Amino acid sequence: MTITPSRRSLPLLPARSHPGGRSAMTCHYRCGDACFQEVPNTSDNRYFGDVVTQGLSRRTMLQAGGVAAVAVGLTAYARPAAAKAPPWAPRDGVAFTPIAPTPADVDAVVVPRGYRWSPIISWGDPISPAAPDFDFDNQSFAAQKMQAGYNSDYVTVLRGGSGNNGISKGVLVFNNEYTNDELMFPGIQSAEDLSHEQLRIIMAAHGMTVVEVKRKGSKGAWRYLQDGARNRRVHTFTELVVDGPAAGSPALRTSADATGRSVLGTLNNCSGGDTPWGTVLSGEENFNQYFNATGAPDPDGLLARYGITSGGRGWERVDERFLVAGEPNEVNRFGWIVELDPDDPTAPPVKHTAMGRFKHEGATIRVDDDNHVVAYMGDDERFDYMYKFVSSRRYRKGDTAYNKTLLSAGDLYVARFTGDGFEDGVSDGTGQWLPLVKGGRSMVPGMSVAEVLIWTRLAADAVGPTKMDRPEDVQPNPVTGKVYAALTNNTRRLPSQIDEPNPRADNKFGQILELTEDGNDPTSMSFSWQLVLIAGNPDDPSTYYYGYDKSQVSPISCPDNVAFDPQGNLWISTDGQPGTIGTCDGLFLMPLTGPDKGYVQQFLSVPVGAECCGPVIENMDSVLVAVQHPGEVDGASPSNVVSTFPYLGDRQPRPGVIHVTRG
Ligand code: FEO
Ligand code: CA
Ligand code: CA
Ligand code: CA
Repeated sequence: MTITPSRRSLPLLPARSHPGGRSAMTCHYRCGDACFQEVPNTSDNRYFGDVVTQGLSRRTMLQAGGVAAVAVGLTAYARPAAAKAPPWAPRDGVAFTPIAPTPADVDAVVVPRGYRWSPIISWGDPISPAAPDFDFDNQSFAAQKMQAGYNSDYVTVLRGGSGNNGISKGVLVFNNEYTNDELMFPGIQSAEDLSHEQLRIIMAAHGMTVVEVKRKGSKGAWRYLQDGARNRRVHTFTELVVDGPAAGSPALRTSADATGRSVLGTLNNCSGGDTPWGTVLSGEENFNQYFNATGAPDPDGLLARYGITSGGRGWERVDERFLVAGEPNEVNRFGWIVELDPDDPTAPPVKHTAMGRFKHEGATIRVDDDNHVVAYMGDDERFDYMYKFVSSRRYRKGDTAYNKTLLSAGDLYVARFTGDGFEDGVSDGTGQWLPLVKGGRSMVPGMSVAEVLIWTRLAADAVGPTKMDRPEDVQPNPVTGKVYAALTNNTRRLPSQIDEPNPRADNKFGQILELTEDGNDPTSMSFSWQLVLIAGNPDDPSTYYYGYDKSQVSPISCPDNVAFDPQGNLWISTDGQPGTIGTCDGLFLMPLTGPDKGYVQQFLSVPVGAECCGPVIENMDSVLVAVQHPGEVDGASPSNVVSTFPYLGDRQPRPGVIHVTRG
C-alpha cells in the first residue's frame, strides 16, 4: 500500500496544557487523567539520589555530560534531523535507510524506502463467521463482542514461520487497552452522554483479541482469517479465573462471586509477553479509571495508592460492580497479570495473584539454567517501581498443562537501584532485588502474603525500592539476557528527587535502563545497571545516546515498548513525541553492541495523534506494530476527523495492527 502523507488542520488545544507529551484526550481515556492527578506514591521511601549526589556541585553534575542531572525545559523541536544512510555495512540482515522525523500533524504511516505496509486487522473487523462487517454508524454490543477490540498495545504472532505448502500460518494475539468514547460515537462529550448500549459496546471493545493469520511463504503480508478456529474475543464480560496465593481470599470475594476465584473481564490490557510454553501474558494497567469510588471509605489509603477516585467512565450505570461503595472488593480483582492460552479458546484466561497487583505494564519471561521462570514487570506510574517474579516450579519443555501452573507460585521482588556517582560520566551503579514474598512467606512486617499480593504497592513502599520515572516495558534480551526497561517520562520529578537511574527533573523525554543480573543469572538477588539512552532532542545537552555521535541519530522521546530482533538489537516504540519533540511517534532501532552501539535510527512513524505499540521484529523483512489511538488529538471528533487510518475508505480512524514488509 502506498499512502500519500496528508497534513491536517489540528483542532485548537484546550486551555490546560498536557504535561506528558500527549493529548489531554489520550490522558483522559488511556490513563484516567493520571497526569493531572496527585502522585499516588506518597511514601517517605527516600530518594537514593540524595545519597549519591551528596557533595556534588551542580557544576560537577553538568560536567558529567550525558548524565547532566539538571532540570531541563522543553526544547523546541526546530531541526528535524536529515535522514542519513547508515554509515555501516548491512550486518545480519539489519539495515535500512532511516526515515526522517515526521512532523506531528501528518496523517500517514511512513516506512523506509523499499518497505511497504498493510493493515492486518482493525477495530471492528469481524472475527467470527456470524459477525457483521464494521459499520461505524450502526455499532452494537452484540456485534462488538464478535469484532476486533479497540486500541492495541501488545502484539504477538505465535507459531508463525514458513509453511511447506507455500502458506505460513500463525495466531495473532493483541490487547485492547482502552477506548476513546468521543471518537467511537458522535456527539459524546462526557460519560453522561453515553447510552447504555454504547457503554456496553465500549466494555466489549476492551480486553484481548485472538485471530488466526496466514501469509504466502515467509515474505507475504499477514492476513487474518474471519473463521479461524482459535479466533476469540476476551472482554469485560468474559469469565476469567483467579489463581495463586491470594485467590479466594476475603478481599477478592464479591456479591456475585463468593469464591473470590472467578472474575468477569480483564481491563486496560497494556503490554505483555510470550511464554516459552506458548501462552500470552497481559498486564492490567490503568484499571482504576473504570471504578467510581464516590462515597467509598478508604481509611487505610488502599484506594488512593492505586489512584481510584470518584471519577470513573460511567460504567457503573450499566454494571453496579464498578461502583466501589456498593461492591468494595471488585476493584481488587483488577490490576493483575493475565495468562491466555491461544490454543484453547474455551479455557478461561487466568489472573495470577502470585505476580502482585499494581498498574502492570506487562510481564516478560526469561528461563534460567535450572529452568526457573523469571518474569520482569513494571508498574507504570510516576514514582513507582520495577518488579521481578521467580517461579517455585521449574519449566518442563513440552508439558504445556504443567507449565501453565508456573506463574501460580513463586517469589516476588522489587528493585532498589544505587548509583555510583555522577563523576564517572555515566548513569550507572548496582542494585538489589528486595523480597516481598519469599518461600511462600511474607517478607513485609504486618502484612500477610495475600495482603502483599493484593496491595503490592503498599508492601513495596515499606521495603524502600527506587521510585522510577514510569516503568513501561521491562524485557530481557533473548540473545544476551540483559534486561531493558523503558522509563517513559516523569514531569513531576523535582530537582531534589534526581538520582542516577532517574537523572533529570521535569523529565519529559524518558530514558532506557539496562540491567545485568549478577552472574547473568535471572534469579540473582543483585545486579548492575546503566542508562543506555537518555532520550530527547539530540541538541539537548542532557541527552545521551549510549555514547554515539548525536549528530547522526534519529531524535527519540518517550520510549514505551521495547522489543528485540533475532540478532538482539533493541527496538523501541514511542508514546509522546508530538508533545515533546514535535514529531509523530514511531519505531526505532538501537544497536547495543559494536561500533553502532547507540546509533538510534527511525524505522517508521505512525499517524497524527497515534502512539506506536507492540513491535514484533520477526526479521528485517517482517515487522508488525499496533497503531494505537490514531487521530486522538484534542478537539477531534467524528465530525472533526483528524486521521482516517487505516485508509480503507473509512471516514473515521480505526486503531489496529499493521504489517510492514520489504520488497
Ligand atoms: Fe499503557 Fe504504560 O502504557
Ligand atoms: Ca555513575
Ligand atoms: Ca506502554
Ligand atoms: Ca503507551
